[in-house]
Amino acid sequence: MGELIIAKTVKEVRDQVSAWRKEGLTVGLVPTMGYLHEGHASLVDKAVSMCDRVVASDFVNPTQFGPGEDLESYPRDFEHDCALLKEHGCNMVFYPSVDEMYPDGNGKTDTYVEILDDMPKQLCGKTRPIHFRGVCTVVSKLFNIVLPDKAFFGQKDAQQLAIIKRMVRDLSYGIEIVGCPIVREADGLAKSSRNTYLNDAERQAALCLSRAVFAGMDMVKAGEKNADTVVGMMKDIIEKEPLAKIDYVSSVDAVTMADVHEIKAPVLFAMAVYIGKTRLIDNFITE
Ligand code: PAJ
Repeated sequence: MGELIIAKTVKEVRDQVSAWRKEGLTVGLVPTMGYLHEGHASLVDKAVSMCDRVVASDFVNPTQFGPGEDLESYPRDFEHDCALLKEHGCNMVFYPSVDEMYPDGNGKTDTYVEILDDMPKQLCGKTRPIHFRGVCTVVSKLFNIVLPDKAFFGQKDAQQLAIIKRMVRDLSYGIEIVGCPIVREADGLAKSSRNTYLNDAERQAALCLSRAVFAGMDMVKAGEKNADTVVGMMKDIIEKEPLAKIDYVSSVDAVTMADVHEIKAPVLFAMAVYIGKTRLIDNFITE
């Protein structure tokens, strides 16, 4: 097991990365908000397999949380995160304070990166209107700090992945965005730092999301071409679960996030569902 460098300042990251670059080494970036699990680990594994050096960021980004969301209660365990990163061969973790990332203080910034078309207004954007502006802003900052060759994101957050790809194209970042498959618990639940909020009954109820995803996949595999029919069937499965409340279940173009009703080009079937007070997401994309 190699050494894991803990960098708390932008300068430390820049100095280390530029030393690696001088040696001709390639650098991969895995952005995270910490409380790491096997889903995050799979991104690190992928990065280690494709890059000479891997940097993970561990930062609960205030600008992507709306009022009344779980910024304060978001789970944190930096020691555990370091152990997992080390075990998976990550070389450096960037663990900045809020003030290091947002020098104006209190997570405030007057400069944002924002996609102005409907892409960030779809799906999660309907109930989280400032979320993707915060994500694009912090990921841009991380790109500028680390200057990676490649950056790794999970398909679990399918809209986020599509938006980052768009941002990279629109702003001419010379960074390859690598999407990685959803990692699930043995019973199907997509791994998430937020699963820790669930009590026993809710943990059981949360299986309605993956049940709906798997049933949707089967229906498409069996030849269904009407996306609304698939969405309707997925909703039926979730609505049978008394602890679940649907935020959305939708079918959109996998690249543009525009609504689609017929399955021709790849379609993203995505959902956000409240299980008690906890909002969970899951999805699949057709071929
Ligand atoms: P976070 O929720 O910590 O997720 C970090 C990365 O891990 C994201 O790319 C996410 O898609 C991926 N991930 C999470 N659960 C996964 C799973 N079960 N399988 C595969 N990948 C999974 O997403 C964020 O943080 C933030 O928005 C961030 C991009 C770091 C910006 O603040």
